[in-house]
Amino acid sequence: MFVQRWNRTLLTGAFLGAVGLLMNARAGEASGTPTLRELAQQRGFRIGAAVAMPLLDNAEYRQTLSREFNLCVAENAFKMESLRPARDRFDFQQVDRLCAFAQTNRMKLRGHTLVWHQQMPWWLSQGHWTRDEALGIMKDHITTVMQHCQGKVYAWDVVNEAISDQGPDHPIRPDSFWTRVVGADYVEKAFEFARAADPQAILYYNDYSNEGMDSKSEAVFQLVKRLKAKGLVDAVGWQCHLASGWKAGAAQARNAERLAKLGLDISITELDFRISLPVTPKKLQTQAESYRSVMRFCLSQPNIKALVMWGFTDKSSCVPYFFKGAGAALIFDEQYQPKPAYEALREELTKAK
Ligand code: G3I
Repeated sequence: MFVQRWNRTLLTGAFLGAVGLLMNARAGEASGTPTLRELAQQRGFRIGAAVAMPLLDNAEYRQTLSREFNLCVAENAFKMESLRPARDRFDFQQVDRLCAFAQTNRMKLRGHTLVWHQQMPWWLSQGHWTRDEALGIMKDHITTVMQHCQGKVYAWDVVNEAISDQGPDHPIRPDSFWTRVVGADYVEKAFEFARAADPQAILYYNDYSNEGMDSKSEAVFQLVKRLKAKGLVDAVGWQCHLASGWKAGAAQARNAERLAKLGLDISITELDFRISLPVTPKKLQTQAESYRSVMRFCLSQPNIKALVMWGFTDKSSCVPYFFKGAGAALIFDEQYQPKPAYEALREELTKAK
């Protein structure tokens, strides 16, 4: 009898233990460790990634993107080269696909970019235009695209990379199609057209190497100060295509504070930290600390509204194409496995108040 009862007790204990394990597993699965998106959402912060449209056909790409980010932007699909097969034609197929993806997955969507001297359609860049004709084309493009996306795109990079890298005064790029055909005032005209096209949209000026305190960021500051005085700009994009090892510091804080004084928000718009190949565990740790420093910095500055990476998996990054001998710049590897940089971002978001 006793033996039978003991067996019954053992069996019951084993059964309940198994049930407990199963329930924990289920609970763990249900609660899981919070994703970047969940942690950012809890802090009212936006964490985003650029989307390589062809990869949206891949289920793992889609699932990772929608699970980990609450914001996205098209790497190329919103650029003039992609949208304008001809002067009298707009092709919104890819735009509509990403708008639908963002809406289905309750993600904010950035528009990149309305006016840039690169990735222009051949019929425009190779054409011969008067100033007024070029301004007419610019106005038609900005108005049509923004109104097509109204209510679906919350913020636009109206003008991208207008400031020359050539110091000390960093003029509006003299070699840009827009400067050559319209004049340096093309920047202000673009923002005027954008403000009129969608008064609800948040209008960004976006550039690279403008995150510090130096002659280029000073030129950007003076440009957006003039635009802000006319009510034409709302925010500045710091692209932040950087080398692993870089860390945010006092210069970025001073730059963010002076833009805040102007009443301007900031987004990190194209973050990636390139590693000189081959990748090693030590280099991945260094990269993780760079990502950590940017997240910590963003969460410390009230006017920084979003951290957007230029992709999220090393399977699709422009870095190897533009920086020979470098790569592995993002937070998931080519098999969509999180890298130390991912864990560093989660830790920073978890620590944030
Ligand atoms: O990957 C293919 C390669 O397989 C092929 O052999 C080669 C042939 O030309 O093309 C490669 O694709 C290139 C792609 O970058 C790689 O990511 C495209 O030609 C090239 O046009 C494309 O360039 C885009 C670049 O803007 C154009 O300047 C990148 O996709 C895109 O990530 C990049 O994004 C820019 C932002 O819009 C503005 N800030 C800088 C940022 C990086 O350059």
